[in-house]
Order: sequence, then structure tokens, then C-alpha cells
Amino acid sequence: MAAVPLFLLTTLLPLLVLTAQQDSSIVNGREAKPHSRPYMVSVQQNKRHKCGGFLVSDSFVMTAAHCLIWRQNLTVLLGTHDISENQKSNRAEVKFYHIHPGFEADTLKNDIMLLQLKTAVKKTKEVQWIPLPKKDKDIKPKTVCSVAGWGANKTKGYASPRLLEVNVTVMDRKTCKKKWVLEPITSRMICGALNIDNKGICQGDSGGPLVCKGTAVGIVSFNDYGNCNKPEKPNVYTRISKYLSWVKCIISSVN
Ligand SMILES: *[C@@H]1O[C@H](CO)[C@@H](O)[C@H](O)[C@H]1NC(C)=O
Ligand SMILES: *[C@@H]1O[C@H](CO)[C@@H](O)[C@H](O)[C@H]1NC(C)=O
Ligand SMILES: *[C@@H]1O[C@H](CO)[C@@H](O)[C@H](O)[C@H]1NC(C)=O
Repeated sequence: MAAVPLFLLTTLLPLLVLTAQQDSSIVNGREAKPHSRPYMVSVQQNKRHKCGGFLVSDSFVMTAAHCLIWRQNLTVLLGTHDISENQKSNRAEVKFYHIHPGFEADTLKNDIMLLQLKTAVKKTKEVQWIPLPKKDKDIKPKTVCSVAGWGANKTKGYASPRLLEVNVTVMDRKTCKKKWVLEPITSRMICGALNIDNKGICQGDSGGPLVCKGTAVGIVSFNDYGNCNKPEKPNVYTRISKYLSWVKCIISSVN
């Protein structure tokens, strides 16, 4: 019996890009209208997509803390729909990595990071920032929100180089906790249900935003190891509204 929890613990895998597969997307989604999500960025290392992220001000990109394993030399591609095109002009360099001090790599608690850009970006039609929640309020279960990313479109699948998006339904935390059994689902996380059609997130979507009514409320964090189409294990997002004072503190320290 002792092996059971260990085995199950190893099933917790952040939604990083699998090393063997480059680029990657959303399961059962559709291609986003180009530039309809001008806050979306591709977080890259050596010009290869590693994680999603989103602009929250002219100088900061929010993403998942577990993307820090590529902390060296990360750049972000801004205002790009098709990341295979690798437009040079839209690439920004990272000056500082602000990893949440409470981040735990094994449980993925506090999976939130701010990337401070070397130079502030200009707001254009294709490059804009997305509002964060104004106060600490929970998202009601059954609310329909959306998530976008360049991650894999199925387990071990290949990615669409173009941004994909999908609608997801927020699940109540109690049910989510029960389904995850051994993984701690905290009040600082939001769960996304996988419906009959298994719409959701997959490898390479990490760090992307869960968007409800035009506000970024969550950050793609994890799902079940090696399985993006398993309704028994809801998708898990970091709940941004629990980190507002931390975010404010960092952003205001440089402005
Ligand atoms: C980061 O970039 C520098 C200079 O371009 C290079 O020398 C170094 O090897 C890179 N580090 C990693 C981890 O890729
Ligand atoms: C995933 O993307 C590939 C390549 O774009 C495509 O051929 C395949 O049908 C897609 N699979 C699903 C489940 O959407
Ligand atoms: C998500 O739902 C909205 C509202 O019902 C709808 O307009 C939109 O087309 C849906 N998006 C996707 C990707 O299915």
C-alpha cells in the first residue's frame, strides 16, 4: 500500500511542454481569431515555445511559477498568432523573474510568477494587457470562462503553431478535491471541469490565462499526468485573486 501514494503523487505533472515535442494546444478547442487575445504571449527559450503567459501591464507578463525551470534566457513573443513565424520585432527580453516565495514544485501550490520585461511595451492593436480581478472574490461554479494556448491538442499530441482557445466550465472546489483525492486542492486554486467533450488544457498551455468576462482570473497549472482527456481529473488553475497584494507590490515597486 505504501507505494500507492507515491505512484499517485508522480501523476501530478505541470503542464509543461514535453521535451520530445515542440510547440504544442488546447484539447478540442478551435483556432482563435488572430489577435483577438492581444494579451497572450508565448514564453520561449532559445526561440522555442515553453509556456503561455499574458501581459498584465506594459512591463509585466504573468505566467506559472513552474515555468521557472527555463528561467535562464527566457524571452516572450508578443502580439503573435502563429508562433512558427517567430517575428523578431515582437520579442521582448526578461529582466527579472519574480517567483512567488510560496511556490512549491511538488504540490504546485502558489504556481504564479511575474516576468519583468527589460523595456516597457507599447500598446497597439495586437499588444495589450488584460485586467486582473479587482478584489478577492471566488468564481462561481458553472461559470463559463475560456482558456487559450499553443499547447498540445491531445495527450502526447503535436501542437498547432496557431493560438487555440476553448470554453471551460468552472467546477466547485469540493467536487474537485474529491476527484483529485491525494493532491491538495486549495482555496488558492480554481478547477475547470472536463465535460463529455473533454475540452481543456494540455502540455504547453502552462502559464496561460483562464479568462472570465474579460478578466484574467486563473493561470494554467496542472492536470493529470500524461492524460489531457481524463474527465475524472479536473484541470487546475492558480486563482489570481488570492495574489493581488503580492502582484501589486511587485508591479508598483518598479513603476
Ligand atoms: C544564455 O544566453 C547566453 C548568451 O546568449 C549564453 O551564453 C548561455 O549559454 C545561455 N544560457 C542558457 C541556459 O541557455
Ligand atoms: C491535433 O492537431 C493535428 C495537427 O494539426 C491534427 O491533425 C489532429 O487532428 C488534431 N487532433 C485533435 C484531437 O484535435
Ligand atoms: C464560448 O462561449 C461563448 C458564449 O457562449 C461563445 O460566443 C464562443 O463562441 C465560445 N467559444 C468557443 C471557443 O467555443
